[in-house]
Amino acid sequence: MRSRSVFMSVLLLISLLAFSSCGKSSDAVKIAILAPMSGDVATFGQSTRDGAMMAIDEWNAKGGLLGQQIQVVVEDSQCSAEAAVSAANKVIDQDGVKFIIGEVCSSASIPISEIAMQKGVLQITPTSTNPSVTVDANGQTKSLIFRACFIDPFQGTAAAKFALGTLGAKTAAVFLDQGNDYVRGLAEFFIAAFEAGGGTVVVKESYTGDDQDFSAIISKAKDANPDILYLPDYYSTVNLIAAQAREKGMTAVFMGGDGWDSPDLDKVALEGGYFTNHYSPEDPRPVVQDFVKKYQAKYGSVPDALATLAYDAANVLLQGIEKAGVADPAAVAKIIEGGTFPVVSSEIAYDTQHNPIKAAAMLKVTGGIVKYVESIAP
Ligand code: PHE
Repeated sequence: MRSRSVFMSVLLLISLLAFSSCGKSSDAVKIAILAPMSGDVATFGQSTRDGAMMAIDEWNAKGGLLGQQIQVVVEDSQCSAEAAVSAANKVIDQDGVKFIIGEVCSSASIPISEIAMQKGVLQITPTSTNPSVTVDANGQTKSLIFRACFIDPFQGTAAAKFALGTLGAKTAAVFLDQGNDYVRGLAEFFIAAFEAGGGTVVVKESYTGDDQDFSAIISKAKDANPDILYLPDYYSTVNLIAAQAREKGMTAVFMGGDGWDSPDLDKVALEGGYFTNHYSPEDPRPVVQDFVKKYQAKYGSVPDALATLAYDAANVLLQGIEKAGVADPAAVAKIIEGGTFPVVSSEIAYDTQHNPIKAAAMLKVTGGIVKYVESIAP
């Protein structure tokens, strides 16, 4: 009898131990970083990974989250819808991730958001600025999807007002890739605001993501002789268009958006150009300067907006999980929705569509470097 009850107690003890250790490992917060690590916009992915990892390393050094070290999976989602879908399914189904930081590009973040909503996973994109990332086709806010950046209606309007007001522009030409959600959206928001402010869009021409030779549309724009050539694409495409346009003798001022932000931007072809961005490392606020110093010490380079917003997005997410006290996406979403998060780029609080209300920075390419011009309030 006695040996039997000892045996039963030992069994109970073993199962308790097994249960608690299994409970522990499933409690460990697993986060996926989905970003373009290769291809045309690889600097976006590298900065995003580095910024997010810096935040996660800091949390782990302080003891982790919910009493455990944070685990990270990084996947190359290539700034494309197809790669993003497989990366999202992989990290959710195989790695058991419940929280995603990413993507950078709106065309990749939108399909990820649909998978995340279906599978009950929380997504925060650091830098995808198209409105459809957080809002569905019926205008409903996606309950588990957030971002750490402003959106393109604001960015496009800020650029149009600056062109009309500060630069005194009257006419603009706009080139766009209809197949890219970010580019198409930003072009349309710029055009609407430029025309509403009294300007005229004299040329609007489309190209596709694979184009390398832009001479036909550049000739049309050159003939119209606009004050501004608006190029709301990523740096790799903007570099090609700008170099070809200058070679053909176009004299318009080039303008664009956050997609220009890269150490690989062609600052010779884009000399004199302006672009809206999320942040400037020249911002004198101590929170920005401390971050720039810390980042430089760790990685040996000045953080671009991608790195800074990834650091911010990771901190919003980790603070949200800590405040929720549990790694449950729905509970964390409620906390993030109602909270205020003092991060590097600004203090983040969400509107009803899960968009933070924040300022933009206008930057100028001048003398081979990118200089801060002014901050544009929301
Ligand atoms: N805003 C871009 C998009 O939505 C991505 C981007 C952000 C690129 C910041 C560069 C810098 O696709």
